Amino acid sequence: MTKEHKPSAGQKPAAVLLTLAAILVPLLPLFFWLRESLSLMPSPVETPSFGLYLLARAFALIGFVLMFYQFILTARLPFLEKLFQRSRLVKRHRLLGRIGFSLILLHGVILLVQDLSLYSAKTLGLIALILLTITVAAASLAKPLKLSVKTWRTVHLAAYVVFPLAFIHALSLGSTVLGYRPVYWLFVLLSVIYFLILLRRIVRGIRKTG
Ligand code: HEM
Ligand code: HEM
Repeated sequence: MTKEHKPSAGQKPAAVLLTLAAILVPLLPLFFWLRESLSLMPSPVETPSFGLYLLARAFALIGFVLMFYQFILTARLPFLEKLFQRSRLVKRHRLLGRIGFSLILLHGVILLVQDLSLYSAKTLGLIALILLTITVAAASLAKPLKLSVKTWRTVHLAAYVVFPLAFIHALSLGSTVLGYRPVYWLFVLLSVIYFLILLRRIVRGIRKTG
């Protein structure tokens, strides 16, 4: 389909619905996070450090969902490409990928600085953050670092490893994820979809090289 014939988001109700759903999904964990945070008020939140801890958790919840979206946006899913131009999906990916990464980085740095001790589930988060930083840096700084397309794209593939690490980390430690069934099941659902996308990506890769 040529660029001219590709429908824009404004023309297709399905595109609008999908965009709305994408906005609503991160609001679910945020709703439960807010409910818990409000129930803790006023006393503990009055300490800036506890407020920052709560904020770092909200960053992680939104960041995780945004990270998940990046696999959807770049998966070249036929139904999505019928609704949105590929160039637009990649553009959104670059923007939302940056925002998601920034939130996750803030989450990790805040919670690490607040408590420098490391234990397995936290170390997993640290490893995930280091890997994510490398993958995002490879994509964002490919030009100044003079990385070839093949190099940065290969490094960027490490994003596929980050997601399961972050999932295990969140399910081992997360107060919101573990404390509220709808959030827990949302995270499980996102992970199942991620896994299907990964399988599809592996099959596509094998077909390309085979
Ligand atoms: C949370 C952060 C991010 C994640 C999880 C992520 C993940 C991914 C994944 C899974 C792919 C598909 C790779 C493949 O299967 O071949 C991809 C492609 C790509 N990413 Fe990212 N990414 C992130 C951030 C970024 C950022 C910040 C940029 C650029 C500034 C970027 C630029 C790209 C580009 C240009 C592609 C190729 C898209 C295409 O040609 O279809 N990504 N990313
Ligand atoms: C230096 C790196 C990291 C550190 C030190 C860290 C630390 C923590 C800690 C201590 C918690 C438990 C908070 C609580 O509920 O009491 C947590 C939860 C969480 N982390 Fe990380 N993390 C790191 C990296 C990551 C990364 C890369 C992700 C990827 C998205 C992530 C996503 C999450 C999520 C979704 C939760 C659950 C929040 C909740 O249920 O309220 N973390 N992290």
